[in-house]
Parts: sequence; C-alpha cells; structure tokens
Amino acid sequence: MSKTYARIIGTGSYLPEKVMTNHELEQIVDTTDAWIQERTGIRERRIAAEGQTTADLAEQAARIALKEAGVAPEEVDLLILGTTTPDIVFPSTACLLQHRLGCGDCAAFDVNAACSGFIYGLSIANQYIQAGTAKTVLVIGAETLSRMLDWNDRSTCVLFGDGAGAVVLRADQTPGILSTHIHANGAYADLLGADVGVSRGFKENEKNAGLRVHMRGNEVFKVAVRTLGRIVDETLKANDMTQSQIDWLIPHQANLRIIQATAKKLSMPMERVIVTVDKHGNTSAASVPLALDEAVRGGSVKPGEHLLLEAFGGGFTWGSALVRY
Ligand code: UT7
Repeated sequence: MSKTYARIIGTGSYLPEKVMTNHELEQIVDTTDAWIQERTGIRERRIAAEGQTTADLAEQAARIALKEAGVAPEEVDLLILGTTTPDIVFPSTACLLQHRLGCGDCAAFDVNAACSGFIYGLSIANQYIQAGTAKTVLVIGAETLSRMLDWNDRSTCVLFGDGAGAVVLRADQTPGILSTHIHANGAYADLLGADVGVSRGFKENEKNAGLRVHMRGNEVFKVAVRTLGRIVDETLKANDMTQSQIDWLIPHQANLRIIQATAKKLSMPMERVIVTVDKHGNTSAASVPLALDEAVRGGSVKPGEHLLLEAFGGGFTWGSALVRY
C-alpha cells in the first residue's frame, strides 16, 4: 500500500484592524523606532480590539482556510489550536471554535507550546493523518499576546502582536508534509514566560497582576539561534536533503536577526525567506501560519516546492516541518 501524506490544501489568516506603529510605542515607553527596527526588524504590529478574543481571530483565519480548501466544516475530523492566550481556562478555545465553525463532534484541543504551538499542532496532525486516524485536519495558530504584555516594560511590549493563521490538511497519496520534528527543554523555563496560573494562584486583590510576559531577551536570542541551526540540520538529515533543495524558509517571526541567522545556516538568500515580522511583530503560535498564508496568497510558493517551517519559543519548545507544497 502506498504511503499516506498530510497535504496542505488550504491556508488562511486574519489580523486585527488596529495597527500599532513603533512611533506610537515611543509615546508609551522609553524607546525609539530606530532601536526597535535595528534590534528586531519590527515596524508595526496589530492589536486586537477590546473584546476581540483569540477564538474570534482563529475563527476568521479558519473560515478562510476552509473556503480556500473547498472543505465544509463538518468534514473536519480533528481541530488543533496552538495558543498561549486561550479565551478562558476551559473549555479549550479549540472547543469554542469547533462549535462556532460547525465542525460536528470532531476531536478538538488546544496545544500550549508557546511560539511553537502551530508546529506542534502540525506535527500532531501529521501523525494522525499518516496513521489513518484522521482524514481532514484543521490546524490553527492564534494569539492575543497584547493581553498579557506589561505596557511599562520596553524590553517586551515592543516585540509582540496579535493575529491568527490556519491550514487545512488532507490525507493524500501525493506528498505533503515530509517530516516534522518537535522538541522541548523545560530547564529554560525561567528565561521566557508569564508566571501566573490557576494552580499557583493569582495574587490576592490583584486580578491578573502577574499575567505579564517576561523575557531575558539576550539569553533567549542566543539559544534560539543555536537551536534553530540544529533543527535545520536535523530536518535536512531526516529527509536526506541538502540546503539547496529547500525553496523557501518560512520561519517563526520573533526577530529579523534570528531569521537572518537561520537563513545563513541554510545558505539561503533573504529573497527565499518569508519575512512578516516587520508588519506583524512576534505573534507567537500565529506567526508561522500567518507567514505561510502570506507566501501562498502572494504567489511566492509554487506547487511542488519544498518549504522549511520552523519555530522556537517559551518552554523552551522548538520544532520544524518540511513540506512539499
Ligand atoms: O518568540 C519567542 C522567542 N523570542 C525570541 O526569540 C526573542 C529573542 N530576543 C530578542 O529578540 C532580542 O534579545 C531583543 C530584541 C529582545 C533585545 O535585543 P538585544 O540586542 O538582545 O538587546 P538587549 O536585551 O541586550 O538590550 C540592549 C540594550 C539595553 O540597554 P543597556 O543595558 O545596554 O543600556 C536595554 O535596556 O537595549 C535596551 N533596551 C531598549 N532600548 C530601547 C531594551 N529594550 C529596549 C527598547 N527600546 N524597547
């Protein structure tokens, strides 16, 4: 029997309307447009409107992806949402979304792997499809990181943005996802996180007082560059491929300098790298599917080309997917 692959048959994305420029941030914290651009490559990011939740963003992206794929919601038999900013503690945002979309009674769950959430979701979807357990899978990355930023902390609030991206995968005899690779190392938990939760408790009389992203940026930066270099090697080796066989790098969009380092590792010119960090900032789990959708919609990515998707984030978590589009 021939091998079954998970093929991307539709992509979609959604960004909130409100654009926040670096100049606006200059009014909020002690920063400059020049510093932000030079150190991160970010010019602007989107911010969810009041009352607009992760499920709202995810729903828009998912509807577009389903439409592009020509797939009816009831055909979806697994829904996976990568997010670090769920609407509520439970039910999962994936369940809220499943009901809204009308995906019947398919399995639905959130994956919390911070910025690697979409790649983790893609990896899970790939296993289900290859095992023959699922035929049509909706994988989404959606975040409203702006809700847990400390708007007095210039070292973090300038970095993140809100958005959502989605893909529809279908079982096919034609490749497809060629491999996925996911990893984590909890030893680095202190370098990047938001240290508040149900079980540890919220501080008394201070609702959500601790719900703020903190990051030791410079240390995260160094580990990210090193680790992404390793995952590139691992992915190429697993597929017995060389750098020159990769047509497009679709990286997590945290920092242009990190993206450039990974491109260099692949000996890939920046024209072959999808960059959205300038317009989106770091949208965590949404960043890779947002970049992928932009590449598809802009006509950059052509059928049969090889795409290397990768991400790195809090946990630390990291991962990659090699896709024949
Ligand atoms: O998606 C999850 C993974 N996240 C990442 O991969 C992010 C990784 N880290 C980074 O992208 C970078 O480390 C940052 C962009 C966060 C920071 O860039 P950096 O070149 O590592 O700067 P730094 O943290 O070493 O700070 C350099 C200086 C400091 O001042 P002093 O101590 O040299 O006087 C900071 O206080 O820049 C200062 N600084 C700022 N200045 C103006 C920090 N934030 C700002 C700011 N505006 N917004």
